[in-house]
Amino acid sequence: MKTQVLAMEDNTNKTTDRSELGGSIPVDNVQALAFKGQEDIPVRYIRPEIESEEILVDESLQIPVIDISKLTLSGKPGYDDELAKLHVACKDWGFFQLVNHGISETIDDMKKVTEEFFKLPLEEKMKCAQLPNNIEGYGQAFVVSEEQKLDWGDMLFILPLPVAQRDLRFWPQNPISFRKTLDEYSNALHRVSMKLFKLITLNLGIKHESVGKLFENCTQGIRINYYPPCPQAQKVLGLAPHSDATVLTLLVQVNEVQGLQIKNSKWVPIKPIPGSIIVNIGDVMEIMSNGEYRSIEHRAVVDVEKERLSIAAFHGPGFEAMVGPLPELVKEIKPKYKTIDAPEYFKLVINTKLDGKSLIDHMKIQ
Ligand code: OGA
Ligand code: NI
Repeated sequence: MKTQVLAMEDNTNKTTDRSELGGSIPVDNVQALAFKGQEDIPVRYIRPEIESEEILVDESLQIPVIDISKLTLSGKPGYDDELAKLHVACKDWGFFQLVNHGISETIDDMKKVTEEFFKLPLEEKMKCAQLPNNIEGYGQAFVVSEEQKLDWGDMLFILPLPVAQRDLRFWPQNPISFRKTLDEYSNALHRVSMKLFKLITLNLGIKHESVGKLFENCTQGIRINYYPPCPQAQKVLGLAPHSDATVLTLLVQVNEVQGLQIKNSKWVPIKPIPGSIIVNIGDVMEIMSNGEYRSIEHRAVVDVEKERLSIAAFHGPGFEAMVGPLPELVKEIKPKYKTIDAPEYFKLVINTKLDGKSLIDHMKIQ
């Protein structure tokens, strides 16, 4: 998710001042727009290309399911099989559902405050509104041109980690338990990500100590997506196709309305198992693994009648990290991607966002 890294950029003095790049162009609040209930929606949301793509949806495929409770102790029955399954999931799919993660209560609490927040009147939500040249807060995805098509959705974007750089101006105080719940959610999701990261590096044949630095002082962004119902749902997108620019994303679907689709030659709709976490490989993981694992393009579609909410937690490298293929993986084979430091990587993410090119293409060694 590119906008997340934009905000990380704000937190480091090493990189370009984002105000030089111009902030996001303010656009309408989509929840308020949808509430008006007009059949004809503004043309900036209509995407002519997706109607013709509808035939390309394949309902028959499903992403793998990983049971992380089988991966607590090596040598336990089922451990090796599940670890092998995780490898296949990362290699062939780049997406999987995680079950038995042990943090259901925290997730349920977070879902509750999320739903409550989006039910609040607009003025109340606007107390956490995005500010110029700052991507955190309540608003819409980063908009760079007046011509750009718009997503049918609002978001609340917060950077909980590193803790020292939290900006509480964007943390809602209504509902009253929001901040405490988000703090617990951030910790729980960070813990699960670290576990997964360890297992993934094990699968790549890497000693975890040698990659510890990459995730030391890990950056975490939490984006709560709110997709209102849309009378012309078939013609809009809640979130345009993208890959996530970070290492690992953990996504929780808040209500029963589906909408996430992943690109696997056709668009494959994800049917979430209740209580599961949807995990995907981000661009940094693709680069680290020297292309063994790939960051998969995905998008969100919306429903005609029902609102949809999701919570994405992006985990990225710390500011001190290097972003590049893990040295142990490129001893005998050529690196397919460049190595740059994290601040430089975040800067690249911004520039590719601005010129609309794929980030991975910029990192590939031709
Ligand atoms: C994201 C994302 C999908 C969804 O926030 O980067 O891919 O289902 N979200 O909301
Ligand atoms: Ni995404």
